[in-house]
Formats: sequence, C-alpha cells, structure tokens
Amino acid sequence: MNPFQHGVVVSGEDFCPRPELLRELQGHIDARQNCVIRGGRRMGKTSAVLEAIHSRRKAGCIFINCWGKTSPVALAESIAESFLAYQSRRGLSLKRVLEGFAHMRPNATIDPQTGQPSFSIDLAGRRDFNPKSLERVLGPIGDEGKNHPLVVVFDEFQALMDMEQHESVIATLRGAIQLQPQVTYFYLGSVRNLMDAVFNDPRQPFFKSAASVSIGPIDRSSFSIYLIKKFRQSRRQPSSSAMNLIFEMAHDTTGDVQQLCSALWNCTEAGQKIEEADVYAALARIHQSENESNMRIIDILTPGQVKVLVGLAKAGGAHPTSKAFLEASGVAQPSSVTKAIARLESEGLIFHDSKEYQFFSPFFRTWLLSMGPAA
Ligand SMILES: Nc1ncnc2c1ncn2[C@@H]1O[C@H](COP(=O)(O)OP(=O)(O)O)[C@@H](O)[C@H]1O
Ligand SMILES: [Mg+2]
Repeated sequence: MNPFQHGVVVSGEDFCPRPELLRELQGHIDARQNCVIRGGRRMGKTSAVLEAIHSRRKAGCIFINCWGKTSPVALAESIAESFLAYQSRRGLSLKRVLEGFAHMRPNATIDPQTGQPSFSIDLAGRRDFNPKSLERVLGPIGDEGKNHPLVVVFDEFQALMDMEQHESVIATLRGAIQLQPQVTYFYLGSVRNLMDAVFNDPRQPFFKSAASVSIGPIDRSSFSIYLIKKFRQSRRQPSSSAMNLIFEMAHDTTGDVQQLCSALWNCTEAGQKIEEADVYAALARIHQSENESNMRIIDILTPGQVKVLVGLAKAGGAHPTSKAFLEASGVAQPSSVTKAIARLESEGLIFHDSKEYQFFSPFFRTWLLSMGPAA
C-alpha cells in the first residue's frame, strides 16, 4: 500500500515528528494560553495541533471547522455539534448528552459500523437567533472547562471574515472567550492578511488576545529521514539528489512533498533506485491527473487573466507591473495586470506572501508551463 498520505489530517505513524513545534503547542495547552496559529496551506497546521492535543491525554478537544460557515447560525450549529460529540466521547450517556442541549433539539445518529454517535442540530428555522445567541452555545463549554482541561480549535478561522454579520460574530466570540480563562482556544488560519485583520488590528476585538505560533515547513533533514524510511520499507532507494529535487519542486510545503512522494511511489517498483528522472516522471503524473480540474479553472478566466497567470508562472510574482513582466505576459497596461491579479486572488489561485505573488499550488504552476496554456 502507498505509504504517503496527502489531503487528509495525519496522525500517529503518518505524522513525521516535529518535536519543537509540538513542545511549543503543548506548553500553550498546559498554560491554558489562547493562541493564533498561522501558516501556509498544507503546511501541517491542523495535523500538528491535533497531535499536540492528543498527546495531552487528559485534555479534551472540541474541533470546529469554520470553512464554509456562511452564517452565525451555521457556526452555532457546528460548535454545538462538536461539543455534543466531545461529551459523548467522554463517556456521557446519549440521554444526558441530548438533555444538556434539549432547547436546540439535537438529533443523534449511530454509525452502524463503529457504534459511535454523531450529532446534528438544525437552528435554521429559529427566528430569534442572532450573533449574540452564540453566547448560549459557548457557555456550556466554559462550564465544562472548569471540570476538565479543554482545548477548542477553530480551524480556518479566517473564513469567518466572509460570514454575514461577521463583526458582531467576532465581537461575541471574543466577549464569551474572555470570560473563560480555564479553556484554551486555538485559532488556526492560512490566509495571512485576513488573520492579521483579526488579530493585529488595534480596532478589532481579538487584537493581542492570543499568543502567536507560526507553522512553516518541516526541516529537510528530519523530513528526509522520515520519507526515506517509508520508501525503504517498500524497497525503494531514493538518491539524495532525488530527495532534494522533491523538496524544491514542492516548495517544501509539507502536503505537496507528500503528494509528490505518493506519485513517485506509484510510478516506481520494489527493488528500484529512485533518481531525479523518476521525480520528473512523478510530477508529469500529477500534471496528468490534475489536468481536467486545472482546465476547468482556466475556463472560468478571461483570455487577459490567463495571460497574466501565465506571466506569473514564467516571470514570477515579485514585480507584476514591471516592464519586463508586461513583456513576458504580452499585456499592454499595468492597470490590466492589477485587475487580473485581483480576480486571480479572489478565485484563490494566487496569494501575496509579503514579498511576491505565489500560486496556491506549486504543481499548478508547473502544469501551466508544461501542459496548460503556457506550454
Ligand atoms: N507532521 C507531518 N508529517 C507528515 N506529513 C504531514 C505532516 N503534517 C502535514 N503533513 C502533510 O500535509 C498534508 C496537509 O496537512 P494539514 O495538517 O491538513 O495542513 P494544514 O492544516 O496546514 O492545511 C497532510 O495530508 C500530509 O500529507
Ligand atoms: Mg488545516
């Protein structure tokens, strides 16, 4: 079986040890210190945070994914459902769990395979619901935190900025959390400027309310040891130049390194030595498998926007309004570039990392150059 996991949260055997980072996170859990945890997409934020919490056996975890929660009601449902699931994991009987939130009329479904219950709450019909009502959902978490160490994880926290009435939602969250020093709150986010708008702006309620942890790449030497061991267990021998090429091509992004290793594993056989040429073949395989979905992305863009996208792939994103960039992309006006970039950014295809514009995935960039419109 392919030993490389990507696109999912990893734990246990699939988690390459990151002792320094885990120590830092564990220290914050022990001190009940709220934290904002920033890092690029697929760097390993969610996995590291959950690994740190699970290593603290006594600490309970309430996990809320803010992605796609477009209304305060959807957020409240999600918080309440996670809390019910937590209580059930702690061994509270189904009856007790449901009674605690009876006013929200929760439903429980038992998974026939695992026997584990999952919970759903539907508040959509509640006319009396407003952002302030979130206090009622957070209250029981505070009470629970008085009895047990508890970490509440808001994953993809920046997504709340897109929510209707987000200002009162954020103010309500902040107000309720402030009254719960016994509970540890972790706010995870990947879009840096949106996270900064919440935590680094003096006008915002969350300003300076949490310690800051930043999650970058796993250092190459420890990640190599971990990956090479996985290759060797299935009798494949990567050369050190092949390993270096993997890190280069994946821009050291944890999940992208794993995706490339997974493709590499698929196109090699037991007993084989892995060289740079095999890494190029694996990259070509990724381009092939993502070709259709990438073409669909191109289809939604105007020809001018595609030109700018190709220009960024060819010339890099440090100076997109420079003369050299205009020449490379074949666009006449800097203002057209600026407009195109705004669209590409809003579609999530590129982002600005304080130095330059980068692609959401390094393999999308190389696809543009090798198979896409730039080929
Ligand atoms: N410690 C780790 N060891 C090995 N692979 C990891 C590790 N952390 C993350 N990954 C890889 O990165 C991918 C994305 O991890 P995830 O935790 O979801 O990142 P994020 O939350 O930053 O987007 C995983 O599917 C896995 O391939
Ligand atoms: Mg994540």
